[in-house]
Amino acid sequence: MTTAPILGTPLSPSATKVMLLGSGELGKEVIISLQRLGIEVIAVDRYANAPGHQVAHRAHVIDMTDGEALAALIEREQPDLVVPEIEAIATDKLAELEAAGKITCIPTARAAQLTMNREGIRRLAAEELGLATSPYRFASSLEELKQACAEIGFPNVVKPVMSSSGKGQSKLDSPDDVENAWDYAASGARANAGRVIVEGFIDFDYEITLLTVRATNGDGEIATGFCEPIGHKQVHGDYVESWQPQAMSPRALESAREIASKVTASLGGRGVFGVELFVKGDMVWFSEVSPRPHDTGMVTMATQVQSEFELHAKAILGLPVNPELRSPGASAVIYGQLEQGGIAFEGVLDALRVPGSDIRLFGKPESFARRRMGVALATAPDVDTARQRALEAAGKVKPVPGKA
Ligand SMILES: Nc1ncnc2c1ncn2[C@@H]1O[C@H](COP(=O)(O)OP(=O)(O)OP(=O)(O)O)[C@@H](O)[C@H]1O
Ligand SMILES: [Mg+2]
Repeated sequence: MTTAPILGTPLSPSATKVMLLGSGELGKEVIISLQRLGIEVIAVDRYANAPGHQVAHRAHVIDMTDGEALAALIEREQPDLVVPEIEAIATDKLAELEAAGKITCIPTARAAQLTMNREGIRRLAAEELGLATSPYRFASSLEELKQACAEIGFPNVVKPVMSSSGKGQSKLDSPDDVENAWDYAASGARANAGRVIVEGFIDFDYEITLLTVRATNGDGEIATGFCEPIGHKQVHGDYVESWQPQAMSPRALESAREIASKVTASLGGRGVFGVELFVKGDMVWFSEVSPRPHDTGMVTMATQVQSEFELHAKAILGLPVNPELRSPGASAVIYGQLEQGGIAFEGVLDALRVPGSDIRLFGKPESFARRRMGVALATAPDVDTARQRALEAAGKVKPVPGKA
């Protein structure tokens, strides 16, 4: 796309077409933002009626790790932009198509390749860019893991190199934990089972997501903008609460921005990046980065002039963005609690009676106990009050069995 984009009319020959690879709750919101600009949106996921499918012009169900299936769909749809929304994609195929000039991948195919594997992004951040990270080793067998743990020491954290949302991840306190961690990692890996990273445990004061947006500043140059830092709470590697802004010392904030600038500049392209950082006093460690909107950033639907989804939609289209905060706020996850399809939600009315609150229900066809089915949002004059409100609102929403 040129630096001054021309947007077309959907479902006509002039259409500007965007294909989302992954159409969960984050993709759904990106799609809604794209729809507002008259973009023709093609939503792809591995199951039918995914949240983003329900708001797109066309929906496709394919195995996105199957490179041939992915290439065939791209060939058929001819999107102007291909936008990965999840990690588990045949990114090598995207790189091949990008190199052949057949697609524009957001932010770049290389960014999608590097970030889908902890080894790729960790080596880039620590070894090429020289960013501070936890000490780490990689291991491909139980023996190697024992050796790696001996070198890193305890406590440490073992994670499959290909996994997300805390799957297969464990904290080890002593050599006695190594064998279990190895078995657990193998069970939680998405691919490449049998290769893990061991990271020294960082005893941080708090952790943040620094949403960083690379967008056109109006004269064709790419400028890097930052949202206010988002604080969050993780349980078993899955986010349960987030808030914005997270208070930080000026030096820590400066370091955080410097790290985020470096890593996003190296990944390149345009769009929103969720840079995950650990902070202790003035010290900041790089943890990982998503080259796309971040789940903890759902709070920006309540707190920012433009949510992370609107920022992403505009940035990828080559339009300028505004990452300003509008109000302090918070988000709290609503879990499915039930294991069944077609559930219903009681208590939405009570949730919306909480001052400053709002909710999103994602419309996922199947509920699982720990599946994220919705999120409560709240604004308030300060973050503490906003957190209380978001938690209160989330707690009022009660999943119940749907009609038979
Ligand atoms: N080295 C570490 N030291 C201390 N805590 C850690 C470390 N690594 C991970 N954690 C904790 O575990 C959480 C999840 O880790 P990480 O982000 O690497 O996994 P993930 O599976 O990619 O999670 P997600 O997909 O939710 O971002 C972190 O947000 C942090 O709270
Ligand atoms: Mg993470």
